Amino acid sequence: MTKVIILNSSPRANGNTEILCRECADAIEKSGLEAEIISFRGKNIRSCIACNSCKKNPGKCAIDDDGLNEIIEKIKEAKGLIVASPVYFGTARGDLMSAIQRISMVSYGGDRFLSKMAGGPIAVGRRGGHTSTIQELLMFYFINDMIVAGSDYWNIAFGKAREEVTEDEEGIKTIRKFGENVAMIINSLSH
Ligand SMILES: Cc1cc2nc3c(=O)[nH]c(=O)nc-3n(C[C@H](O)[C@H](O)[C@H](O)COP(=O)(O)O)c2cc1C
Repeated sequence: MTKVIILNSSPRANGNTEILCRECADAIEKSGLEAEIISFRGKNIRSCIACNSCKKNPGKCAIDDDGLNEIIEKIKEAKGLIVASPVYFGTARGDLMSAIQRISMVSYGGDRFLSKMAGGPIAVGRRGGHTSTIQELLMFYFINDMIVAGSDYWNIAFGKAREEVTEDEEGIKTIRKFGENVAMIINSLSH
């Protein structure tokens, strides 16, 4: 079945990012696709070490002990990729940036598996920095020849304490519509 991978970079179990990822996954599945949420919780994803080994050994990162290569294998099998982050000081989490930089390098060094994948970013925070986080994450999509879906608003939601985002009805509606649009793009491209 055609799959969409959703990367949840929050370290908090049942946190706001996880809730939004579940809403997004549910909307994608209701559109007839499979969605798999991959959590970074408990992982210690490292930054690119600029060794360029992904050019010599295409399809794989030299850092092989933090779980990212397994995630890359799943992304290669999928048609969609969504990345979700809590806002930290007006930007995305560092480990998500490390992950997407390494995923980009591996894609560049090999068969460009990210090319024509559909998706986009999601950001959740207490009060500010959501749009700068979204903008930062969009750089990954646009340089990798990916197709970004929109929604009725930017893909952001508000909440601080665990589960607080459930009170942001507009945010949840926005994320569900974004998920539907990602699925619509994938369904249209496969016909
Ligand atoms: C280190 C740190 C920095 C944060 N910086 C911001 C910020 O710049 N803007 C904001 O609105 N919220 C900020 N927050 C709040 C989180 O984005 C918010 O609690 C979010 O819902 C956490 O998502 P989670 O429950 O999925 O972990 C910060 C939280 C932490 C721990």
